[in-house]
Amino acid sequence: MENRAWSGIWVISVFLLALFSVSAFAAEEGEKVLTLDHSNFSDTVSKHNFIVVEFYAPWCGHCQALAPEYEKAASILGSHDPPIVLAKFDANDEANRELASEFEIQGFPTMKILKNGGKNIQEYKGPREADGIVDYLKKQVGPPSAEIKSVEDAGKLGDEKKIYVVGVFQKFSGNEYENFMTLAEKLRSDYDFSHTLDTNLLPRGESVNKPTLRLLKPFDELFVDFHDFQVDAMEKFIEEATIPFVTIFNSDPSNHPYVNKFFGSANTKPIYKDVAVLYKKKSISFLLGDLEASEGAFQYFGLTVDQAPLLIIQTTDGQKYLKANIEPDQIVPWLKDYTDGQVKPFIRSEPIPEVNNEPVKVVVTDSLQDMVFNSGKNVMLEFYAPWCGHCKQLAPILEEVAISFENDTDVMIAKLDATTNDVPVDTFDVQGYPTLYFRSILLRMNYDEGLLECSPWELRRA
Ligand SMILES: *[C@@H]1O[C@H](CO)[C@@H](O)[C@H](O)[C@H]1NC(C)=O
Ligand SMILES: *[C@@H]1O[C@H](CO)[C@@H](O)[C@H](O)[C@H]1NC(C)=O
Repeated sequence: MENRAWSGIWVISVFLLALFSVSAFAAEEGEKVLTLDHSNFSDTVSKHNFIVVEFYAPWCGHCQALAPEYEKAASILGSHDPPIVLAKFDANDEANRELASEFEIQGFPTMKILKNGGKNIQEYKGPREADGIVDYLKKQVGPPSAEIKSVEDAGKLGDEKKIYVVGVFQKFSGNEYENFMTLAEKLRSDYDFSHTLDTNLLPRGESVNKPTLRLLKPFDELFVDFHDFQVDAMEKFIEEATIPFVTIFNSDPSNHPYVNKFFGSANTKPIYKDVAVLYKKKSISFLLGDLEASEGAFQYFGLTVDQAPLLIIQTTDGQKYLKANIEPDQIVPWLKDYTDGQVKPFIRSEPIPEVNNEPVKVVVTDSLQDMVFNSGKNVMLEFYAPWCGHCKQLAPILEEVAISFENDTDVMIAKLDATTNDVPVDTFDVQGYPTLYFRSILLRMNYDEGLLECSPWELRRA
């Protein structure tokens, strides 16, 4: 019995070794991406004005997918002026971990742009295929803000989905202008910055007669002006002005009586909007919709009609907070509790199944701890979606593997329906279906307490 568990793990380890040797081979082919480690990281970074570092782990599937694209981008950018250097750093290597932790690497791959010999650090927020990487980086190395000189230049700021920040100045010098450029440098990976001397070229609305920061956005008031040119003040302004007040899915009245009572009443909507404007200062964004139009959102959040009317908050780190069957006069108190940290996050889980005797075990969010982390077993866990074709193809293979381990008490093959269960984002990175994780009690692989992300074809070999 013991042997079987061992052999399964052994096959996976052998497979990983094979991957390592493939990348070792590529290195001999004259890689354009620099390899850094703890011994030469600081030295190399200090010599470059603009260097991108990919923090990766050899076992991470997304890193393997990125590698050829990154290499291709490096060879295209090899002759760029000014130089753009691409490097990689194995954050999984024992000797490199301390350095990686200084960069607060949360997942793999993480790419950072290090400028001025490493004095400025920015998150890379661009695409992950070669051409996209090249375009994004070329823009990052150029001037942080583009001058608007003509009507054509101004017309380019018309993209319906983007946010633009425009600085209008009487001269391209002085405190206001310098601060604006500092801010543009800081936030350039998030927004498009431009500047101009000609107030007539200022998009959307009347011209201004003093230095102005105008934020153009495709929602709410469409543009907002700001006149305080302190860097911190501008940053805070941009952060707040870019969050929509209320996202209304559809203002058509719904037939649902409760919803009509709540959202349809002339009293509630204004309250809701007032509250939204008030709490916007605390960076909460609001969603308002009738049931019919919100069907998708209900599915997404795993809510049911009988919970309406309801308020739901989703934070940028993926936590959700729910108040079901809310009355208008409960909105403000509940939000206060929320901002005071008194509301517990809402975590969606299917009920733990009473019978679970198929070869592939059913795991739900509420049973993750018991079945996966505290079971003392080696667990292969599939995150799937019922509609996903690749998951359906994988199902018989998974079952076959499960049957071959059926007498082995050390091994469990399991699946979790990720469309009806919240996946803890701090532990698992599920970007698509199926995603497989292998939790090993033997291979205590560093970062994730023995969690390995693996791809379906690795499983086939196993
Ligand atoms: C840094 O050191 C590693 C290990 O010795 C080596 O493989 C790599 O090429 C070095 N990188 C640079 C840029 O010197
Ligand atoms: C598991 O044990 C049962 C009963 O001893 C046996 O019939 C079955 O073939 C075993 N399965 C495997 C995969 O060894």
